[in-house]
Amino acid sequence: MTDGHGPVRAEVGVIGGSGLYELLDDVVEVRVETPYGQPSDVLVVGEVAGLPVAFLPRHGRGHRLPPHRINYRANLWALHSLGVRQVLGPCAVGGLRPGFGPGTLLVPDQLVDRTSGRVQTFYDGLPLPDGGVPEVVHVSMADPYCPAGRAAALEAAGAAAWEPVDGGTMVVIEGPRFSTRAESRWFTANGWSVVGMTGHPEAVLARELGLCYTSIALVTDLDAGVESGQGVTHAEVLAEFARNVERLRTVLFKAIGLLPAERACPCGQALDGLTTGLPGVPGD
Ligand code: ADE
Repeated sequence: MTDGHGPVRAEVGVIGGSGLYELLDDVVEVRVETPYGQPSDVLVVGEVAGLPVAFLPRHGRGHRLPPHRINYRANLWALHSLGVRQVLGPCAVGGLRPGFGPGTLLVPDQLVDRTSGRVQTFYDGLPLPDGGVPEVVHVSMADPYCPAGRAAALEAAGAAAWEPVDGGTMVVIEGPRFSTRAESRWFTANGWSVVGMTGHPEAVLARELGLCYTSIALVTDLDAGVESGQGVTHAEVLAEFARNVERLRTVLFKAIGLLPAERACPCGQALDGLTTGLPGVPGD
């Protein structure tokens, strides 16, 4: 975790979604080893609004990793190990209502997991590398996103003249295929707002590390069950993301500047009383 000139630290982390492979200028590259394997790519650390910010492309540069192959544990662990305590997670999603068409920016406040088989915990009951006995930890996910991060993202979007949707449920599917029309209609009937493939287990693992996590969902298409939604291709998702990527970068930069210097949200206390700590993970 050094760039050859000493330890590299960061306070804010951004995990970039489809089409957001580079965010920062004047960066140092940091290769982080984790007990969970390789993060999606080398991390880069640069400065935004006077803060050291680490950026990690979720799918790796060149979009090598499909959603179900992303090593979410390594990604979150790597950011935490650099000192990151607040994470912004921009992602591409499909809209589940006619009003949430391409170009809509939605800051969800709820999450539904429809993935299958993804490792979604650091506390998975396996023996620890040092031979220790793992603890059983059940973290609360009632409110999956950081209230302060959400407020910052919403204010940042407004300041960038992008009227955001405040709240809504993101359902996360396993992928890599898109949803059938029946699945999509069912998601809409349940009252859910957008559908993506990467928001879980990212938010859960962030919570298990006591990190603040904020999802910023960019709608790239109307999902197949929405009246005018014709189904979507990956090329369309990338093209719509590309159309909005500069605006999204502006929102992210502004949001970083609006994050509180001292955390007053409950995220950092998520593990209080539940565990003595994850091996190798220093506390706040
Ligand atoms: N990411 C972007 N569009 C999507 C869709 N319609 N379904 C799932 N993930 C998506």
